[in-house]
Amino acid sequence: MLSTVALAFVALSTATVSVLCQTAAQAWTPRFGACPSNFSLVRMTGASGVNQSLSTGEAQYVSSRRANVLPGAFKSYLSSVQGTNVALPDYVSSILGGTNGNLPTVGIAISGETSGAAMFGAGVINALDGRNASAVKIGTGGLLQAATYISGLSGGSWIVYSLSQANFPTVQNLIFGPPYGTATPGGYGGWITDYVTLGVDNVGETTALYSAQLATEIGGKYEAGFPVTLGRRFGSRSCETFLERDHLDELLRQYHFKPCSTFTSYEQPFPIVVVDSWSPGPGIAGSYIPAANVIYEFNAYEMGSYDPTLAAFTPIEYLGTTNTSICVTGFEQADFVLGASSNIFVIYNSSASNLMNSPAWPWIEIANISYPQPGVTMDVALYPNPFYGLNHGTFVDAEEKYLSLVYGGEDGEAVPVQPLLVKARDVDLIVAVDGSADNTQLWTEGSSMVNAQIRAEIYSSAYSFPAVPTSTTQFIAQNLTLHPTFFGCDNTSSPLLVYIAKGGPPLGQTAYINNTGDTFEEPFAQAVLAQAFDIATQGIPSDYTKDPEYPACLACAVVDRVRAREGIERSGVCSSCFAKYCWNGTQVAVSTTSGAVGTSLTLSSMIAGVFALLLALGMVAV
Ligand SMILES: *[C@@H]1O[C@H](CO)[C@@H](O)[C@H](O)[C@H]1NC(C)=O
Ligand SMILES: *[C@@H]1O[C@H](CO)[C@@H](O)[C@H](O)[C@H]1NC(C)=O
Ligand SMILES: *[C@@H]1O[C@H](CO)[C@@H](O)[C@H](O)[C@H]1NC(C)=O
Ligand SMILES: *[C@@H]1O[C@H](CO)[C@@H](O)[C@H](O)[C@H]1NC(C)=O
Ligand SMILES: *[C@@H]1O[C@H](CO)[C@@H](O)[C@H](O)[C@H]1NC(C)=O
Ligand SMILES: *[C@@H]1O[C@H](CO)[C@@H](O)[C@H](O)[C@H]1NC(C)=O
Ligand SMILES: *[C@@H]1O[C@H](CO)[C@@H](O)[C@H](O)[C@H]1NC(C)=O
Ligand SMILES: *[C@@H]1O[C@H](CO)[C@@H](O)[C@H](O)[C@H]1NC(C)=O
Ligand SMILES: *[C@@H]1O[C@H](CO)[C@@H](O)[C@H](O)[C@H]1NC(C)=O
Ligand SMILES: *[C@@H]1O[C@H](CO)[C@@H](O)[C@H](O)[C@H]1NC(C)=O
Repeated sequence: MLSTVALAFVALSTATVSVLCQTAAQAWTPRFGACPSNFSLVRMTGASGVNQSLSTGEAQYVSSRRANVLPGAFKSYLSSVQGTNVALPDYVSSILGGTNGNLPTVGIAISGETSGAAMFGAGVINALDGRNASAVKIGTGGLLQAATYISGLSGGSWIVYSLSQANFPTVQNLIFGPPYGTATPGGYGGWITDYVTLGVDNVGETTALYSAQLATEIGGKYEAGFPVTLGRRFGSRSCETFLERDHLDELLRQYHFKPCSTFTSYEQPFPIVVVDSWSPGPGIAGSYIPAANVIYEFNAYEMGSYDPTLAAFTPIEYLGTTNTSICVTGFEQADFVLGASSNIFVIYNSSASNLMNSPAWPWIEIANISYPQPGVTMDVALYPNPFYGLNHGTFVDAEEKYLSLVYGGEDGEAVPVQPLLVKARDVDLIVAVDGSADNTQLWTEGSSMVNAQIRAEIYSSAYSFPAVPTSTTQFIAQNLTLHPTFFGCDNTSSPLLVYIAKGGPPLGQTAYINNTGDTFEEPFAQAVLAQAFDIATQGIPSDYTKDPEYPACLACAVVDRVRAREGIERSGVCSSCFAKYCWNGTQVAVSTTSGAVGTSLTLSSMIAGVFALLLALGMVAV
């Protein structure tokens, strides 16, 4: 039964609640039914790189995409690069042109940490999009269409997921498309940026009412016997702002992407959202969880992890299910997945007094009064554990009835490279887009790469990551966050990594891109996107002018692993490009003493970033 307090909120909120969210209320209630006769709750994948296996769905998607979409996509990308009139070695043209039948596998990883990271990712995607005329003219456009995978976490997950769910529009249409109601039927209504920017007051609701509305909406889930936590609060906000509103009801019930036509025709890169699992303990340099904690991925077909300690997946359609007789559906909702990936509230250490001082308090208070749940931790997203009892001794949550899922960068890796390191995916090139906020001015200092390297070493049987500097001090001293840098140029045992970071403003411009407060408001948002576009296309500028050879250099990186497999020597512009853009493996002498791993990922900078995010999400009571 709903308590009287909750009922009062129902009455209050129906006056202002949008029609869309009333339909959402039913969609948010998971349903129980008999499991299909051939249902299997868990798919084990090999614990080591040699025997990892992909799901049937993913393997089929990827091979169909390679056969039907990538040949044309790489040809278009090649013609964009050729348009720059930089002479390419023959092998670049023949690999991209598909004449030797061995196309590269490209993955793009979009970081989280603040709404600024989301916008940075969006701007870089613009620069790689073959539908963006400026990107095509510059010679980087088309790589997005040629990518096999795209992963995101937190802010990055909003981009990756909403692009996919909106049927893969351009970023301009995704964010600034005509408002809901005026969109062409089936078209994408754009992000509701008023919600994101200024909070609920801007659309005629108060924070308290909004919290109440959310509390009402999750009543069905509580009544069905599931714990309700903060993941929902975050997630709902994402649903309001980031998902296509024409089909809201349908979208909320299904995380998987089958209904969308660019997915069924394999035109989208395969999308993956990354989420961390919470178990307290010392992390790497100021991060909140141990690096070895399981990192989960949600993809179109499955949720689970290739980490050797678990190496198991469950069908995404039946998330919430814990046995093979009664199957739960409707638990795997988009907003809850994005909510989990963005949920940073564990930094308040779960104590009521800390939470009381947090911006999440109005929601927690209402939920706590309306839905008594003794012993339930409110600041994580709780998922019934499909892996209960599995891998005793290695899987840390084998005894937990619920998985506690949190912000995908909680381990200090804000760039979701993990899924792209899975050896079974055979990724040749990772474009790592790092918009995270490492310092107090919200610039990136490379901590995600430092920490990704540490984690890949822990699980070296399953993943391989190219060598990167071991401290952010080195990233800074060598300017590796100020221009695109290639890692792993001469060691083919890992993917080649093209690192594009938000390390400073491009081309001597005034900095907009490190400002997160009003990130989503036009015309400021356009200025932010334009700076991200410049960062993604400038290469190593000289005299504030973009390097005209950089697009050719990027193409050299795209084909380089295939080149190596075929025993072709690197030549022509690719040789000079690699000399210029590859990290050469040295650590330079630096005068300061702060050379320790990831020291800049401090609690205070994290909190600064988090508050910017909350502000941007309208979660601070005003
Ligand atoms: C189970 O059966 C259904 C319907 O026959 C089919 O679509 C699905 O692919 C099968 N699933 C597995 C895991 O075999
Ligand atoms: C994967 O390989 C490892 C070591 O090579 C082995 O211990 C394990 O049993 C294999 N797992 C599967 C599912 O084949
Ligand atoms: C291409 O990207 C630039 C920079 O973000 C943007 O200004 C422009 O509107 C985009 N063009 C299209 C057609 O999306
Ligand atoms: C299977 O899961 C359902 C739903 O969570 C639960 O009600 C039921 O008791 C479980 N059955 C068994 C045999 O554990
Ligand atoms: C949470 O606890 C850790 C150590 O247990 C401490 O360093 C940190 O300051 C605490 N955070 C807050 C917000 O209280
Ligand atoms: C929730 O309410 C219970 C009393 O029902 C109280 O003991 C607990 O501290 C509250 N938790 C929070 C986070 O407010
Ligand atoms: C952005 O960077 C500029 C220059 O580095 C700095 O002056 C400004 O304070 C930063 N903005 C924020 C919000 O930190
Ligand atoms: C090549 O990279 C792999 C994986 O990152 C690493 O284990 C190996 O030591 C590297 N080899 C050399 C010669 O650096
Ligand atoms: C880093 O960039 C600055 C200018 O921003 C330049 O003066 C310096 O030489 C660069 N350092 C390296 C190692 O490239
Ligand atoms: C590697 O790069 C650093 C600076 O980025 C430079 O000081 C050093 O000389 C380079 N080493 C080699 C062997 O090229």
